[in-house]
Amino acid sequence: MATVTFIEKDGNRKEVEAPIGLSLMEISHKHGIDIEGACGGCLACATCHVSVSPEWFEKISDIEEDEEDMLDLAFDLTKTSRLCCQILMSEELDGIVVALPGAPRDW
Ligand code: FES
Repeated sequence: MATVTFIEKDGNRKEVEAPIGLSLMEISHKHGIDIEGACGGCLACATCHVSVSPEWFEKISDIEEDEEDMLDLAFDLTKTSRLCCQILMSEELDGIVVALPGAPRDW
């Protein structure tokens, strides 16, 4: 089983099982990570914003314009910000690390 690590606001690193094909937003909800995802993944909010660790940022799919527009509304943006409902888990992303807004980013 693939894994993803979420860095929470208090700096806690939570490594969880990540079924292939689910979005990181769906995976966060399964494991009680504090990511809201208000619109359920249809790119109508920015409450699923995360920063992706730089080494993984290159490996995720390119950002679409709609996502970029929504991201502008997010708080604590970084160069590697993404909306995690748009990141689908795959074998290639096994081990990916993302930080919640406001979390320390000590990759
Ligand atoms: S959950 Fe709303 S844009 Fe991701």
